[in-house]
Amino acid sequence: MNTVEAMPLNVNLKGQDFLTLANFSTETIQSLLANAKKIKNLHLRGKSYTPLQGKILGMIFEKPSTRTRVSFEAGMLQLGGHAIYLNSHDMQLGRGETIEDTAKVLSQYVDAIMIRTFSHDIIEKLAAHATIPIINGLTDMFHPCQAMADLLTILEQKGTFKGLKLVYVGDGNNVSHSLMLASAKVGMDCVIACPKGFEPDESVIKLAKSIASENGSTIKITNDPLSGVTGADIIYTDVWTSMGHEEDEGKIKYFKEYQVNEKLVMNAKKDYLFMHCLPAHRELEVTKEVIDGPNSVVFQQAGNRLHIQKAILTEILKK
Ligand code: CP
Ligand code: NVA
Repeated sequence: MNTVEAMPLNVNLKGQDFLTLANFSTETIQSLLANAKKIKNLHLRGKSYTPLQGKILGMIFEKPSTRTRVSFEAGMLQLGGHAIYLNSHDMQLGRGETIEDTAKVLSQYVDAIMIRTFSHDIIEKLAAHATIPIINGLTDMFHPCQAMADLLTILEQKGTFKGLKLVYVGDGNNVSHSLMLASAKVGMDCVIACPKGFEPDESVIKLAKSIASENGSTIKITNDPLSGVTGADIIYTDVWTSMGHEEDEGKIKYFKEYQVNEKLVMNAKKDYLFMHCLPAHRELEVTKEVIDGPNSVVFQQAGNRLHIQKAILTEILKK
């Protein structure tokens, strides 16, 4: 394998946390996407790119994961570094050691921490007490690495964000929050179609709307899935019950009309993309015909987690 020593990078995120897209400029997001494309291209051509030799990522999981765990771990190894998987149940964290103490200790052993946790306060506390960068691998509020992989997928498929309408159908959850912010940052119109009472968080809607207006796009919330998806370039959905909220499963009775099925997608543009962060529940939030059909790009999305996270890690852990 050939080794590529350097790649021109035009953003400076060295030492920064990656907690929510709200903290990053449009230019930074665009630069990360451009770098991810280059890193993906090298990977597909079998060229090694190892700027993170000697760097170690600690990965704390308080919830299950397939994509986030494996893409971060493989990404660190491919970049020449190492990753340590830490299941919170096997840590003293699971026995009541505080997040503050955990932050201070781990900061002396590893170069960055990626965490998947519950409340967003936990990750903010970790970031406040750590002296190393913290990356959000999903909180109840945001899933920024997923939204970045989604932007990369849309860019690859459509070539631009301008003039596109992304419609998220389903629960106003962490994924919908990060999608609203991601759309607003790149100037893509975003509609959230959700049942009454399951709207996204009011503060995130307000923030996304103000960012979108600066970038010439709109953020809309509707309770009508049919009018929502009319003319959509992208239809996105996620599970109706997120991890850690299993006790709310009774809520799915309110989501029946929000299933992404053949009838609903007929209202989108012919060349619409179907997206889902995965894992998916076929015949609940989406039918087999749609997720396994020709417009679905869900596995490209999952693959892009690897490349965009390598771009993020390369910047944050830059020597
Ligand atoms: N989309 C996503 O974050 O998947 P995992 O839960 O498998 O990490
Ligand atoms: N909204 C989902 C996303 C899973 C990747 C959850 O939080 O469980």
